[in-house]
Amino acid sequence: MKSTIIIVLLSSLCLIQQTSAKLCARMGRHLLETTCVLTPEGGEGPYYISYPELIRKDIREDRTGLPLQLKFTLTDVTKCEPIHNASIDIWQADPYGFYSSYTKNSPDARRRRRAAVQDEKRLSLGVPHAPPTDNTTFLRGVQFTDENGEAEFLTVFPGWYSSRTPHIHVMAHVNGKTVHVSQIYFKNDLIRNIKRLSPYKQRANLAPTNEADYIFRRDNGHLAIVNQIKPTDGRRISRGLTGQITLGMDPSKTSKKALNAS
Ligand SMILES: *[C@@H]1O[C@H](CO)[C@@H](O)[C@H](O)[C@H]1NC(C)=O
Ligand SMILES: *[C@@H]1O[C@H](CO)[C@@H](O)[C@H](O)[C@H]1NC(C)=O
Repeated sequence: MKSTIIIVLLSSLCLIQQTSAKLCARMGRHLLETTCVLTPEGGEGPYYISYPELIRKDIREDRTGLPLQLKFTLTDVTKCEPIHNASIDIWQADPYGFYSSYTKNSPDARRRRRAAVQDEKRLSLGVPHAPPTDNTTFLRGVQFTDENGEAEFLTVFPGWYSSRTPHIHVMAHVNGKTVHVSQIYFKNDLIRNIKRLSPYKQRANLAPTNEADYIFRRDNGHLAIVNQIKPTDGRRISRGLTGQITLGMDPSKTSKKALNAS
């Protein structure tokens, strides 16, 4: 906590005091580029499956939707340094609300809300994930961070199922240990615009706002929003989005949210 405050103070100082640029550079080149603040962890949810063989940037397979190029930057908050060679898993729903490996589970509104509550209860009792219904793997993948702590995916903007606002699940491992589990989110005004686009508009009336999603509220989702997001061509979001999010974590600690902590 204390180091976070110091970093924030130094960052503000460095931003204001242009003349002290050299000094700021000495404090670490990443100080100004990244936020070394612990990102709150979030629930793992019932649909994680470890697929270590799915090392790929493009996770779309046959899924069509709004292309989303998503860059993660992983920082070690104890040192304010990038984490090199962490593996990062992401998994998410397609534009219709389906998860791969669970395509028999309908994203239908009310059932899904009840099922989600049941899942949460089951998970809090330490019961493993929901049993897969099939072997599809779309919108799942693993990447390793480079020396700047960065890893990039090419996916589609996630869909929603009635109780859940659009989100992407993230899990990070360092030397095989699960160090971070969370869900990342998007701004409501962006979601509002995406609801007008095909194929998302087919389910537009089912999309809740972030604040109406109880998991978003419970997990402090407002601290895990992909803030840096823009149209890939610089003009229209309908052609695709590019986003970046920094996740701060302590790589010496095992995640408290990991169900199969390894
Ligand atoms: C997935 O594929 C394996 C190997 O082909 C098979 O044994 C298993 O039953 C499949 N699982 C499901 C849920 O379909
Ligand atoms: C990167 O991490 C993987 C798995 O955690 C490990 O097997 C590999 O040796 C690491 N590579 C480097 C260069 O540290």
